Amino acid sequence: MRFEPAARLSGELRAPPDKSISHRAALLGAMASEPVRIEHYLHAADTASTLQAVRDLGALVEVREDEVVVRGTGLREAREPQGPIDVGNAGTLLRLLPGWLAAQHGRSFTLDGDDSIRRRPVDRIAEPLRRMGAEVQARDGRFPPLQVRGGRLRAISCELAVASAQVKSCVLLAALTADGATTVGEPARSRDHTERMLLRAGAGVHRHGRHVTVVNVDELLLGSVSVPGDASSAAFMVVAGVLVPGSRLLIADVGVNWTRAGFLRILRRMRGIVLGDLEDETGELVPDEPVSDLDVAHGALEGTVVEADEVPLTIDELPLVALLGCFAEGETVVRGAQELRVKESDRIAGVVAGLRGLGAQIEATDDGFAVRGTGGLRGGTLQAHGDHRLAMMGAVAGLASAEGVEVIGMDSAAVSYPGFVEDLAALVH
Ligand code: S3P
Repeated sequence: MRFEPAARLSGELRAPPDKSISHRAALLGAMASEPVRIEHYLHAADTASTLQAVRDLGALVEVREDEVVVRGTGLREAREPQGPIDVGNAGTLLRLLPGWLAAQHGRSFTLDGDDSIRRRPVDRIAEPLRRMGAEVQARDGRFPPLQVRGGRLRAISCELAVASAQVKSCVLLAALTADGATTVGEPARSRDHTERMLLRAGAGVHRHGRHVTVVNVDELLLGSVSVPGDASSAAFMVVAGVLVPGSRLLIADVGVNWTRAGFLRILRRMRGIVLGDLEDETGELVPDEPVSDLDVAHGALEGTVVEADEVPLTIDELPLVALLGCFAEGETVVRGAQELRVKESDRIAGVVAGLRGLGAQIEATDDGFAVRGTGGLRGGTLQAHGDHRLAMMGAVAGLASAEGVEVIGMDSAAVSYPGFVEDLAALVH
């Protein structure tokens, strides 16, 4: 699909519902004792996989026009499905669901997915779940298909070698049924949607610096959840507005939880014009997910450095930091982001090859990249490698380029943002 240079972008837009929060709402709904109503559930490929997975496990799911209702099985009563659970392309489902399955004493489950999922490591969840008392096996000890046999779980303390909200969340879900209080530590803070939702569901959750403790509970009662707009999906529109001269956009109801708003803070540091009421870092854990409108305008940018402690707060937007870097004055560097190599694709290789093909001066490092800003991009062809975020980055690059961009594999946007191309087209004037 081709994206021609745009004269300017303007108008108003509502970003699609948050993918991370939708996955968690469906999973916690399935684990809860009473029905959970989810308003603004994301209807995309990844989150459809989660609804199917919880159905396979015995939850009843009703998809209504403006909400999804999940009638769960309770914490310990997931049903053993006939065959493997298909997680599709969804790494979050692959990593979070086993935390619940580990508690299903004496029952066995297999998780599998597409070719990309089969390259995503699961050893970091297998190790703590085994210590807690589940039996876990993976292909070559590391990759899906993943088998989990539930057990009676012990509470543990564990320190993650790499900050990961997915791994942390897996252990916290298992902790709900363990025999005491479980603590997870991370080298840097990652998104805390699981902690906030567990707090709302009545679980004992405490944060102390980089550590989170969850106390076991008898049941979860979540009531209803309203999913905010996805900050990661909104980020593509934000960047389009910042890069295309003369643009002015309003993006409504975006989630601005501070553990997700790292990208907006980086953009402001680069002198990008984005007005909005971002959440300040909270010491105490809070149950709510704050939202804000974002008012975006085109403007000149300066290069910046993103260090390891900031990476988990903007992990999915780092390809966009590279794209911004192409247009900024000076150098833009990202370090400590080796996790990008094991996302839906190797995002360091994909971003560097993709942007270079459009005329960027960008070098890969082991754990990130360095871009020398040249004031713009020529254009050309970008291969998305089946990765939704690379495809959408390519589309935005096209609008801001001199000659336009052909994206190979635009279909993959449906993983997180099915209406992306239409939404973008509606803003172009
Ligand atoms: C996610 C966490 C991030 C992110 C992914 C969604 C989540 O992964 O890249 O798209 O919903 O917990 P890690 O924190 O595991 O790196």
